Amino acid sequence: MSYSGSNKKLVLITGAANGIGLATAKKLATTGHDLFIVDKDETEITKAVTELTALGATVKSLVLDLSDSENIMPSLDKALGDAHVDQLINNAGVGFARNVESTTFAEWDLTIDVNLKATFIMCKYFVPKMISSGGGEIVNVASAASIIGLKNRVAYCASKAGVAGLTRAICVDHAAEGIRINAIAPGTVDSTWIAKILADAPDPVATRKMMEARQLDGKMGTPEEVANGIAFLLSPEGRFVNGSLFVMDAGLTAA
Ligand SMILES: NC(=O)c1ccc[n+]([C@@H]2O[C@H](COP(=O)([O-])OP(=O)(O)OC[C@H]3O[C@@H](n4cnc5c(N)ncnc54)[C@H](O)[C@@H]3O)[C@@H](O)[C@H]2O)c1
Repeated sequence: MSYSGSNKKLVLITGAANGIGLATAKKLATTGHDLFIVDKDETEITKAVTELTALGATVKSLVLDLSDSENIMPSLDKALGDAHVDQLINNAGVGFARNVESTTFAEWDLTIDVNLKATFIMCKYFVPKMISSGGGEIVNVASAASIIGLKNRVAYCASKAGVAGLTRAICVDHAAEGIRINAIAPGTVDSTWIAKILADAPDPVATRKMMEARQLDGKMGTPEEVANGIAFLLSPEGRFVNGSLFVMDAGLTAA
């Protein structure tokens, strides 16, 4: 049992107020899940709760800044009470357009703290609980940047390669105890994140074209397409997939 009185699986999604996280929450709301969504943005998470509730989901939320490492576990203890999380999606992420020389220590630390350290802390918190209840499924949102170097994304590439390694290591340690953990590696996805990058670009049209051309069909992915991949990895149909870096990038990393 997840939430008291519910026989649905309870899934916790970080960074669920926008983009891939919100699309995934919407998808899972229609596939027999209760939702616990986490984000640092209070206004956006409130809107997300309204949208998800309108879809008929039982949804609870927690405003939490995942860069505040020490605060993650105490906040989860307080917010979850006796609810049992069956499935976990570590999706929240940040990135800066910097090379090795221009990346500041603060940007490096924030990128590693949100993208990699928070993923580690969430797994550290939930894996033992999942094992003691017979197992569970985890998806960590990595990136094509886990596999290839992207220009001017030094800290981001390092963090996302780390997410892929962390995922494999947890799989090797805990697969036999019922943990199924995968990372997903999207190519460029037309989310709130990309909209912000384009808004700040000197030539948004040219930048969009460049981003689209990275995919071999010349199009970005959608948050909903990535949500479908995550839903598959969490589902019984994904049973044979464990420890993988599941690539969804229209050939970006195949080229
Ligand atoms: N959009 C892409 O092209 C793309 C490609 C590959 C991987 N990804 C990954 O997908 C994930 C989601 O990206 P998106 O494109 O949907 O981004 P987005 O910016 O649209 O959404 C990210 C969400 O994470 C939240 N967030 C950011 N920092 C946080 C923090 N410190 N604590 C709590 N919440 C925080 C934001 O408030 C936001 O709601 C990220 O991990 C990103 O690296 C995105």
